[in-house]
Amino acid sequence: MAIQTVTTHPIPGQRPGTSGLRKKVHTFSQPHYLENFIQSVFYTLGDCAGKTLVLGGDGRYHNRAAIQTILKMAAAHGYAQVLVGRSGILSTPAVSCVIRKRQASGGIILSASHNPGGPDGDFGVKYNIAAGGPAPESVTEAIFHHSETITQYRISDAADIDIDTIGTVQLDGMQVEVIDPVADYAELMARLFDFEAIRALFAGGFTMRFDGMHAVSGPYAKAIIEGMLGAPAGTVINAVPLEDFGGHHPDPNPVNASELIALMAAADAPDFGAASDGDGDRNMILGRKFDVTPSDSLAILAANAAVAPGYRGGLKGIARSMPTSRAADRVAAALGIPCYETPTGWKFFGTLLDAGMATLCGEESYGTGSDHVREKDGVWAVLFWLNLLAASGKPVQQIVAEHWARFGRHYYSRHDYEAIDSEGARLLMADLRIKLPALAGTVLNAHTVDFADDFAYTDPVDGSTVQQQGVRIVMRDGSRIVYRLSGTGTEGATLRVYLELFEADPTQHHRPTQQALAGLIAAAESVASIALHTGRATPTVIT
Ligand code: G6P
Ligand code: ZN
Repeated sequence: MAIQTVTTHPIPGQRPGTSGLRKKVHTFSQPHYLENFIQSVFYTLGDCAGKTLVLGGDGRYHNRAAIQTILKMAAAHGYAQVLVGRSGILSTPAVSCVIRKRQASGGIILSASHNPGGPDGDFGVKYNIAAGGPAPESVTEAIFHHSETITQYRISDAADIDIDTIGTVQLDGMQVEVIDPVADYAELMARLFDFEAIRALFAGGFTMRFDGMHAVSGPYAKAIIEGMLGAPAGTVINAVPLEDFGGHHPDPNPVNASELIALMAAADAPDFGAASDGDGDRNMILGRKFDVTPSDSLAILAANAAVAPGYRGGLKGIARSMPTSRAADRVAAALGIPCYETPTGWKFFGTLLDAGMATLCGEESYGTGSDHVREKDGVWAVLFWLNLLAASGKPVQQIVAEHWARFGRHYYSRHDYEAIDSEGARLLMADLRIKLPALAGTVLNAHTVDFADDFAYTDPVDGSTVQQQGVRIVMRDGSRIVYRLSGTGTEGATLRVYLELFEADPTQHHRPTQQALAGLIAAAESVASIALHTGRATPTVIT
């Protein structure tokens, strides 16, 4: 066995997006593609000698092959140890948990999150830092710059190792420890939540379905919800991770989790429904014939955080991404704690969590989490809701309705125009930016514009700044329209239009969402000429 130096050349397009480098499997499996990117990561990190790396993924197609390559490259760069999840499986929040618990220097997550998997699907690589969270922009940009000038990479020529058996093996002088993917994570959950109360809830006949969507959260949900909490077998459905997620789109929203939505609408629907995404960091929360928006979920968990032992000491602050509704802001105001507004992307919460300024974080894109790790966490959110349901004894819908009655309701929806022409999308945003200065004071479908801008952010902890994070039009009545181009797509561009309408009056809290937002939807089209620029009369996905 020896370390090889392989000659290569830069391959364009290796700039990480909102959440790591995501490309089609066909792109990732071409010669040198993965190796170039991983070498660029190691160049950026500098001296890796003697360090520990955590490695795992969501089990999608190409996961196992990529793990073998990365192990051999880690050995060639002098890592002392790599902790790899059995069979290459580790959810994104579990990687974050293991990095922190084992004091590793960082981790590599192989996932394209909720994007479809399989030979024609997507693959992705993301580097997480020692704090457990996604690398900040300074690191991802440095990786990209290395990828533009790379001429060689180092890799061991050792044979593939067995990653399906728990235990320790040597690889060219490096120790590879194959770990149980669930154990450390489950132990952390048991410390945060009142498992006794949740066990009593299930023992009393409470019913639930958790949809693992044939992705990574299945093993975690089975071990914790059925195993530790005593829910009946069959509570977790689609629990076995498959390389192509069973041909489905592992994105927990009412459009893609249609099987679960149908179950929750049936006459014999369970009391509670939940789902997670490809890599286990997203969550969707459902009651009977009722879905909780991610923005409301964040606000409700924040308002009720004291039910969970891990949060009984109070919250230091709440953070949400800019397009996420302002429901959480009202809770923060009531609690007398700050609410931070960050750009889209979980990485922007890292500094706030590290500095002890925020405890709970959330995004409209079905992401919720806290300072327990540095990623959003699907199973964690579900356990938090179970804890709340056990403590309150009320159904999901009643908890939400009571929250609205107290704080007001933020009607909220996101309209996505997927895989549109990139140039059309660029022009739409450029035209919109030109219009911004003239919008203040104008009336859009009975909503008077308070201000309109292109969201820029200065991190209050490290002072770093980012520009052009989404165009927002904010009305005097508290409504908003936000336009953003997705940073996670792999085909053309995706335009996201986020719509939010505040309603204080409880008699007006039970209207169909799209109906309540109709005026804002029409205003969004009239300001941005969406149909003209995208060639689409309607969105591809409405959540
Ligand atoms: C990933 C990130 C999230 C982000 C989401 C949507 O899940 O971890 O932080 O909100 O992608 O990103 P996009 O750029 O596609 O709107
Ligand atoms: Zn994800």
